[in-house]
Amino acid sequence: MKTTILLCLVAVCLLARAAEKSFTLPPETATLKSGPGAELVTSQCLLCHSADYISTQPRLTRAAWKAEVIKMQQKYGAPIMTNNIDALTDYLARNYGRDAQTNTPKAKQDISKPLWLFR
Ligand code: HEC
Repeated sequence: MKTTILLCLVAVCLLARAAEKSFTLPPETATLKSGPGAELVTSQCLLCHSADYISTQPRLTRAAWKAEVIKMQQKYGAPIMTNNIDALTDYLARNYGRDAQTNTPKAKQDISKPLWLFR
C-alpha cells in the first residue's frame, strides 16, 4: 500500500515537472510623456502597473489626479512619500489632465442636440 502511494506521489511530481513551461513576455512598450516629473512618476507609479494605466485614463482634472495618487498611496499601498504627492500630481495634470495639449484638437460637438442631427 505504502509503495503504491509513494509511486503515485512520484508520478504526480513527474507530471508537475513535465507541465512546467517557460515563456517570454512581450517587451514593455508603453512609456510616459517626457518632461519635468516624468522620472518621479516612472519610479513611483510603474512599480505595479504599466504606463497605459495612466495614459489611457480620460483627461482628469488636477483634483481627480491628486485623488488618484492618494488612492494609490493609501488604498493600494504605493510607497509614495507624502511630500511627493504635489509633484506627481503636477506632472499628471500637465501631461494627462483636462487642460493638457492634445495632438489633434477635435472640433467641439454641441451635446445639447441629439447625435442624429449631425449625420
Ligand atoms: C503598490 C502598487 C501600485 C503603485 C505603486 C501604483 N499603483 Fe496605480 N493601481 C494599483 C492597483 C492595484 C490598481 C487597480 C488595478 C486594477 O483594477 O486592475 C491601480 C490602478 C490605477 C489606475 C486605474 C484607475 C483606478 O483607480 O483603478 C490609475 C490611473 C493608476 N493606478 C495610477 C497610478 C499612479 C498615477 C501611480 C503613481 C502615483 C500609481 N498608480 C502607483 C497599484 C499601484
